[in-house]
Amino acid sequence: MQAIVLVGGEGTRLRPLTYGTPKPMVPIMNVPFLARTLERLYAAEIRDIILAAGYMPQAIVDYFGDGSEFGMKVTYAIEETPLGTAGAIKNVEPHVDGPFFVLNGDIFTSLDLRAMREYHHAKGGIGTLHLIRVEDPSPFGCVVHDDDGRVTEFVEKPPKGREPTDEINAGTYLLEREILEFIPAGRNVSIERETFPRVIAQGKNLYAYTTADYWLDLGRPEQYLAAHRDVLRGAMPLAVEPGLSGDGKDALSGHPGVVPPVHAAADVVVDASATVGPNVVLGRGCSIGAGAAVRESVLWERVSVGAGAIVEEAILASGVTIGPKALVAKGSVIGHDVSVDPGAVLEPGARLSSLPKST
Ligand code: GDD
Ligand code: MG
Repeated sequence: MQAIVLVGGEGTRLRPLTYGTPKPMVPIMNVPFLARTLERLYAAEIRDIILAAGYMPQAIVDYFGDGSEFGMKVTYAIEETPLGTAGAIKNVEPHVDGPFFVLNGDIFTSLDLRAMREYHHAKGGIGTLHLIRVEDPSPFGCVVHDDDGRVTEFVEKPPKGREPTDEINAGTYLLEREILEFIPAGRNVSIERETFPRVIAQGKNLYAYTTADYWLDLGRPEQYLAAHRDVLRGAMPLAVEPGLSGDGKDALSGHPGVVPPVHAAADVVVDASATVGPNVVLGRGCSIGAGAAVRESVLWERVSVGAGAIVEEAILASGVTIGPKALVAKGSVIGHDVSVDPGAVLEPGARLSSLPKST
């Protein structure tokens, strides 16, 4: 079976991280998020993957190549101008040879794709949509269905207070090839605003598949940090040891200032008088200076935190340098290769970047 992964979005809500790294390549526990998604597809024996990309595709192509290193076949469709979530699917029609999965590329979930496939076959509709229940459905696609699971209404991002249900589109679909007939070619088409409503209006059966899985849209920095916390505390199953984990854990074990859970890649250096944790992820080659403190934060590769600096609930992209005694306050997101001056005090929620937007 094939899967189309939609990875063409610009990741605007994750800026400045996505100035230097396209959203699918943003690391989760030090591994590009898209690689996590491909692992999940592999586990469900889905090995024929089509990546519908557009924004900064080269970083994706460089990492996955033709997929053979991952035991998969990876085909790329690069959109010069964004075709939208359905246009991207129509665009790869020549590669599609049967029923296929579609995955929004920014969803972090424990959904069992095999179980969804069985449900789809049992129902026999033109498509099956994975749904989850959320407290605030307004920023999502709301999906109404009858007792038999048949979708009766799809309302994308209704205004607050006007949501018809708390069940939302969780961004994984299993679709029959016939659905391609409902998508016009050659222009931007939204599957949420155009295609699903049209399919429903024409009386075709779309089925809802509601589960209580772990589920998160990684679109915003708070959710990105939440995803890491959830993995570290075992709420999202990702085969991470409890406590101290990662290739760099031996260098940290027995360190009096390390407060688990902490996940560290190889080649990390933490001064004997520094404190790290809880809920910290250190990428390869990070160094934490004397007396520095890092809490509830995700540091990508080669991040250096100077002596006496404090970093709290922050995301620091690769190559960031935090000067001695600087304070990186809660909610800060610092882009690639930024240097924060010694003694600087950042406002909570600061966004710093040194890279212009690239395409
Ligand atoms: N190839 C391609 N081309 N991909 C695209 C395009 C495009 O023009 N536009 C968006 N994408 C990709 C994004 O990269 C992302 O992986 C996915 O499609 C969804 O786009 P988002 O921009 O993240 O949408 P959203 O999060 O606001 O809403 C969508 O996801 C929600 C669940 O998280 C919708 O599908 C909602 O209905 C849904 O509830
Ligand atoms: Mg999203």
